Amino acid sequence: MTCLALHEVCLSFGGLRAVDRVSFSIETGAIHGLIGPNGAGKTTVFNCITGFYRPTSGAIRFRERDITGLRPDQIARLGIARTFQNVQLFRSLSALDNVLVAKHSHMRTGVFAEGLTLPFVRRQERQVRDKVDEVMAFLGLTDIQRQPAGNLPFGSQKRLELVRALALEPTLLLLDEPASGLNVSETRALAELLLAVRDRFKLTILLVEHDMGFVMNICGTITVLNFGGKIAEGTPREVQNSPEVVKAYLGEAVSVGTT
Ligand SMILES: Nc1ncnc2c1ncn2[C@@H]1O[C@H](COP(=O)(O)OP(=O)(O)O)[C@@H](O)[C@H]1O
Ligand SMILES: [Mg+2]
Repeated sequence: MTCLALHEVCLSFGGLRAVDRVSFSIETGAIHGLIGPNGAGKTTVFNCITGFYRPTSGAIRFRERDITGLRPDQIARLGIARTFQNVQLFRSLSALDNVLVAKHSHMRTGVFAEGLTLPFVRRQERQVRDKVDEVMAFLGLTDIQRQPAGNLPFGSQKRLELVRALALEPTLLLLDEPASGLNVSETRALAELLLAVRDRFKLTILLVEHDMGFVMNICGTITVLNFGGKIAEGTPREVQNSPEVVKAYLGEAVSVGTT
């Protein structure tokens, strides 16, 4: 079954076509890669899917439903969560509170009902904590959950962003450069972790990443963008052997090869 499908999505900033008639689809349960040189339009595609930008034209369907033009909070509630290219945490809040704040703003219960501590609110609150505890534990952050997020090592901050996204119980997870800034062993661990997370939480994952070894190892299918347009798509091997892709990456400080 198709989880997400983009149909000829375009987005312009003034005269610049940041996303140019991009179409691709992702099967449920897949880990799909979106790659391309800097400025290719990858983050902008994420911003279109998550409702931060409204496509100039084209359509986006999520689980058979047209989500084009919906607000970010509506799209999040349908089950799409994301992490950002640059870590976006409340640095002085504890790791746990970063997750709880996101979880609460995602839920429908208002401050009014919480203030009344109605039984259903208390029950819901317990369910929230159970879910957050489960995700924290699965990602190995239980021991540091009381520490201010800003004091955590960079790798743990990135993992915390992942916890925050997973706590929203998405079915589709969008990761914008999850391995950037991580060292070789952290990157390897992240690859293992994402495979485990996908299986445990029954997710579909779309990820943007510059580390080609990482992408080639965990993605079943890869879509390649350049100057806003799609230039190739296929298995890691197919994409790696595409002359278009090799040409697009000439002059970039990365090589298109499996490590
Ligand atoms: N908010 C914006 N306003 C104007 N131009 C933007 C904006 N966001 C991105 N762009 C431009 O759109 C193009 C694609 O950017 P982006 O999606 O961030 O690329 P990538 O994530 O592939 O590196 C770039 O030329 C970038 O400068
Ligand atoms: Mg980007």
